[in-house]
Amino acid sequence: MKLIITGGAGFIGSHVVRRFVTNYPQYSIINLDKLTYAGNLANLQDIEAAPNYRFIKGDITDAAFIDGLFKDEQPDAIIHLAAESHVDRSISNPIEFVLTNVVGTVNLLNAARKHWEGSYDQKRFYHVSTDEVYGALGESGMFTEETKYDPHSPYSASKAGSDHFVRAYHDTYGLDTVISNCSNNYGSHHFPEKLIPLAIHNITQNKPVPVYGKGENIRDWLWVEDHARAIDVIFHKAKAGDTYNIGGHNEWKNIDLIRLLCQIMDRKLGRTAGESEKLITFVKDRAGHDLRYAIDSTKLQKELGWVPSLQFEEGLEKTVDWYLENEAWLENVTSGNYQSYYKEQYQER
Ligand code: NAD
Ligand code: DAU
Repeated sequence: MKLIITGGAGFIGSHVVRRFVTNYPQYSIINLDKLTYAGNLANLQDIEAAPNYRFIKGDITDAAFIDGLFKDEQPDAIIHLAAESHVDRSISNPIEFVLTNVVGTVNLLNAARKHWEGSYDQKRFYHVSTDEVYGALGESGMFTEETKYDPHSPYSASKAGSDHFVRAYHDTYGLDTVISNCSNNYGSHHFPEKLIPLAIHNITQNKPVPVYGKGENIRDWLWVEDHARAIDVIFHKAKAGDTYNIGGHNEWKNIDLIRLLCQIMDRKLGRTAGESEKLITFVKDRAGHDLRYAIDSTKLQKELGWVPSLQFEEGLEKTVDWYLENEAWLENVTSGNYQSYYKEQYQER
């Protein structure tokens, strides 16, 4: 099988690439990535010399390039993760999200439709999506695969749009498509513009830890390697046209999560208890901030036997260890453009 994984140099994509390259030596795996600010080949240093792995730099918004890639490579399947993924950036620059997340996805669908014609039943288009397409929950309830789409941010609207196009290409042209919608991931190689790696970075540097609003918003956190394992299972076992929700049954109020992280960091950094918590700084809330996400992954558990493997406390500790042991990685991604992003996002509020 020749498999293209898009966005393989990003956070989740690098874990998916690593898993497939390692577990499926008989597959030929191409990592297609534009290497935006969020893409980093250092995430894949450990597997880059594997004989079943190749990297191709390219932009999914370039329709002619994508068409040529399908013509030259004749892939059997695609796992599509490439996206603009940060809600805050979507609020300041929505059009990038429309281009990459919607137009980019449709370019891939068009290439698949054209080059796989006559053999749709032997090919697979797997689209990786998010729980944010379902909107926000109140204090109770969970998102199931039947929950109506109700996106609120430009990011989630663009992901919802891409999901609709993927389903439309299944229903209209008969393409074998699969979609999964996952909750918040955490783990190694997470770019430090997202809550957990940003907080770890700032605590290490004794800088303020920005918490939006009152920190009352709730997210459902999943270990990134558990997400990669779910993608593996769904890719190989799902029926054409099917959808699965992926989540950790692990809801945390942001402020409680940050307090737990501060306790872990105090211990790891040899600080007195409570020292890191003093860095918590409440800042202006995110516009349109969804109150609560919670994923019901019963379907995935019952039909395909997937369950999360790690308790959150253990996973968070492993994540902190990774960041403390990989200071050079953090240093590398937070030099340059990151500085101006950070200034604009947090100091000009
Ligand atoms: P990320 O921002 O870390 O990585 C995105 C990758 O896509 C980067 O390597 C980037 O270079 C690449 N990319 C961006 N634009 C591109 C373009 N035009 N052409 C080619 N490559 C391009 O994102 P992530 O957090 O790893 O998320 C991966 C996917 O999973 C996304 O589709 C996201 O919507 C989805 N998702 C993320 C989470 C999460 O918690 N991070 C949860 C559920 C779903
Ligand atoms: O739910 C899945 C989604 O999770 C993915 O689709 C997105 O790609 C991914 O980025 C993530 O989105 P969130 O907006 O939930 O993640 P983020 O880490 O940006 O924020 C998590 C929560 O923390 C959210 O309620 C906003 C809050 N927050 C975030 C930042 C960056 C803060 O309080 N302070 C911050 O500085």
